[in-house]
Amino acid sequence: MIDVSAVRSDFPILDREVNGHPLVYLDNGASAQKPLPVISAINHAYHNEYANVHRGLHYLSNAMTDKYEQVRETIRTFIGASHGEEIIYTTGSTEGINLVAYSWAMPRMIAGDEIILSVMEHHANVVPWHFLRERKGVVLKWVEPDENGNLHPARVLEAISSKTALIAITQTSNVTGSVVDVDEIGREARTRGIPVLVDASQSAVHGKIDVARMNVDFLVFTGHKLYGPTASGALYVRRERLAEFQPFQGGGDMIEEVTRDYVTYAKPPRKLEAGTPPIVQMIGLGAAIDYVSDLGMDNISAYERKLTEYASKRLQKLDWLHVHGRPEKRAAIFSFNLEGGAHPHDISTILDQQGIAVRAGHHCAQPMMEFLGVTATCRASFAVYNTIEEIDALIDGLHVCRKLFA
Ligand SMILES: Cc1ncc(COP(=O)(O)O)c(C=O)c1O
Repeated sequence: MIDVSAVRSDFPILDREVNGHPLVYLDNGASAQKPLPVISAINHAYHNEYANVHRGLHYLSNAMTDKYEQVRETIRTFIGASHGEEIIYTTGSTEGINLVAYSWAMPRMIAGDEIILSVMEHHANVVPWHFLRERKGVVLKWVEPDENGNLHPARVLEAISSKTALIAITQTSNVTGSVVDVDEIGREARTRGIPVLVDASQSAVHGKIDVARMNVDFLVFTGHKLYGPTASGALYVRRERLAEFQPFQGGGDMIEEVTRDYVTYAKPPRKLEAGTPPIVQMIGLGAAIDYVSDLGMDNISAYERKLTEYASKRLQKLDWLHVHGRPEKRAAIFSFNLEGGAHPHDISTILDQQGIAVRAGHHCAQPMMEFLGVTATCRASFAVYNTIEEIDALIDGLHVCRKLFA
């Protein structure tokens, strides 16, 4: 089980005060704080180990290359992939999805092809597909959750037609925390030969990812939400699909030979990783994955389930608060609006005055805002270091907001 005091002592920032109050950091869906092992790994790399990778013949470059490449194995194990080459380093989910859009979809898709998306997608899993709509005439087909915020696999599968070229779906909504059964979508889609991309940006931090069980072709996650550094992340590409990828960016490190007349490319994953990569960030991501793996993803899930159930019970009791969605399975993410129309930005500012950090806005999910019938919400999203007492502080903070706006 999780010893939350011990976990908290790994995150130095949690000791600070904000606006004269102990910090209550509930903006983990936007980005999570970093534990000491991640901070130390970054410091250590810059203090003792730093050099460019894949290029040098000197000691530091070789040692750094080995360490940098070991992270690929760490990620492979973490998500249950079978082969190292299936792991493409990225700067985050946005780059991973754009890579699939530019490198795989753009050269293959033709006018009239269909991409199935849910309205719950983050813009990172919407805008790249709009590029295909604009430039190739691809059709975007939208699937909605039910009134409780559950996105039923059957609805996604019903949208399949002979023109379906891709299903691109989030595993967890960054707005309602609703968890999608991507296993069922992946299994069914695979039998019909339809590629599936899963956006695991919000889910990778809350539970175990297993790409083999999911039967997906592509999966992205982003390091900074997983207690790792910014500009780190990975794209998983099922081995059978790797040959279908054209290079995304051209430059150093992704070639075999360049002449005046032609160029030949390195094998994947290098073919898709041009230029000097975010070396130390990926080492930090490796440390973050080691950190959560040592805690145990199942332990993290069990602990966060308790936080989620408690937060759910307390938030639902506030009859002047509208909590969006009551999904059957929810990750530790809640979006809400104060009845009566107080703006989420104002709510967030008043909570901030009490040291409580939440996110307010459209959460880069405007189709979801439209579905919910609002332009913005407040969002509290929890991490493994949050406590029941912090949920109580949020509730107290919301009572203060209510008094001000009533
Ligand atoms: C569901 C989801 N997908 C994609 C992203 C984009 O991640 P990044 O900005 O790290 O690329 C986010 C970030 O908030 C997200 O919540």
